Amino acid sequence: MHDIPAMESNTKSYSLRQIFVFFFIQIVISFFLFTLIQTNGDSKLVFCPSKNDSLSEGQLRTSIKDENEKPGLIILLWAWPFGGQFPLDKCPELYGISGCQFTADRSWYNRADAVILHHRDVCFSKKQLPQDPRPLNQRWIWFNLESPSHSPNLDFMNDLINLTMSYRLDSDIFTPYGWLETLREPRNFSIPPKSKMVAWAVSNWNPSSKRVKYYEELRKYIKIDVFGQGHMNLSREKHHETISQYKFYLAFENSQHQDYITEKLWSNALLSSAVPIVLGSTRENYERFLPREAFIHVDDFPSAQEMAAYLLELEKDNERYQNYFHWQSQKQPVGRTNWITHLCKACQTLRQSPTYRTISSLSKWYK
Ligand SMILES: *[C@@H]1O[C@H](CO)[C@@H](O)[C@H](O)[C@H]1NC(C)=O
Ligand SMILES: *[C@@H]1O[C@H](CO)[C@@H](O)[C@H](O)[C@H]1NC(C)=O
Ligand SMILES: *[C@@H]1O[C@H](CO)[C@@H](O)[C@H](O)[C@H]1NC(C)=O
Ligand SMILES: *[C@@H]1O[C@H](CO)[C@@H](O)[C@H](O)[C@H]1NC(C)=O
Repeated sequence: MHDIPAMESNTKSYSLRQIFVFFFIQIVISFFLFTLIQTNGDSKLVFCPSKNDSLSEGQLRTSIKDENEKPGLIILLWAWPFGGQFPLDKCPELYGISGCQFTADRSWYNRADAVILHHRDVCFSKKQLPQDPRPLNQRWIWFNLESPSHSPNLDFMNDLINLTMSYRLDSDIFTPYGWLETLREPRNFSIPPKSKMVAWAVSNWNPSSKRVKYYEELRKYIKIDVFGQGHMNLSREKHHETISQYKFYLAFENSQHQDYITEKLWSNALLSSAVPIVLGSTRENYERFLPREAFIHVDDFPSAQEMAAYLLELEKDNERYQNYFHWQSQKQPVGRTNWITHLCKACQTLRQSPTYRTISSLSKWYK
């Protein structure tokens, strides 16, 4: 045991000299390399801390806070969508999105960084559009959630618009009716008790429409409860509660267009935990937004009669029916969007400086 300290001190005195020489050489080499890097690139900044780098943490926090409190972008909502007003200052509170000041006061026109033009409120006459010259760098945003079939006079907007904002996935500002959110933790999703088969809520009954024709055919083979004007009552408060008793919901769109998937799917069906039976764009298009096993598409069957037969089969096979909900252990639908949701989306996208352009013809794209 006593030998060991002696050996150690011996080693120490020997190593110290070696270590010194070793490090001296290292330092010389490092200095040489460092000079090389400095003359070669912009690494200089890294090695030359400025006085500002030594800001205290308190000072840093203040400067970050100041950054967030900048007045930000002024966004003018040219007309209230369909005339309905709502608070415009809720983006930070609802979505944590800040940096935009919304106003619906047209006297801000000359100061606005962007103007949102809701199609239905500006499309009946060119006079409904801003008439004053456009301030330099002001962006006009065309906002529309209606389908092309219900969007008249698209040509009024030719050569005026810098950004599109709609449910179309390829919009500059993509703002859908709903979407799926991936859960942080998987959950045990439980399907609400079901005592009824098929529900449909419809406000606009057009006998020659594809959806009414399909319904007329389908009802020959299976019971469908219809809600809406001239049909059964469905109050807004009881909507989800009522629909959740049904196994299936007809999420039939009023027209068939790319990406046009509305609250009929997101809110009426999915938030009520009824399996959506969709009629709208193609199955392939729906699958851009939903897992393929989350819905039934009318095109999955050669006829309404065959679809009815399939639904009646599912009625007796609970395990198969439950397969339509497996995805809900990982994801949940978000469907309660409203006007402010869409405006916040505009703020968020504009803050990320998207590319601007002039859109020569909306009707070439929006169809
Ligand atoms: C350093 O900070 C001061 C005061 O905060 C500021 O005026 C100056 O521009 C900063 N300099 C650099 C190089 O960032
Ligand atoms: C889900 O249910 C299973 C079986 O009942 C249970 O073992 C598991 O802990 C549950 N998971 C969650 C996230 O509640
Ligand atoms: C539907 O509800 C309204 C108001 O709640 C009521 O006045 C009306 O009679 C109801 N109609 C039917 C068919 O139950
Ligand atoms: C926006 O569109 C207008 C009208 O065509 C055009 O004059 C302007 O240059 C565009 N702005 C940007 C930033 O591209």
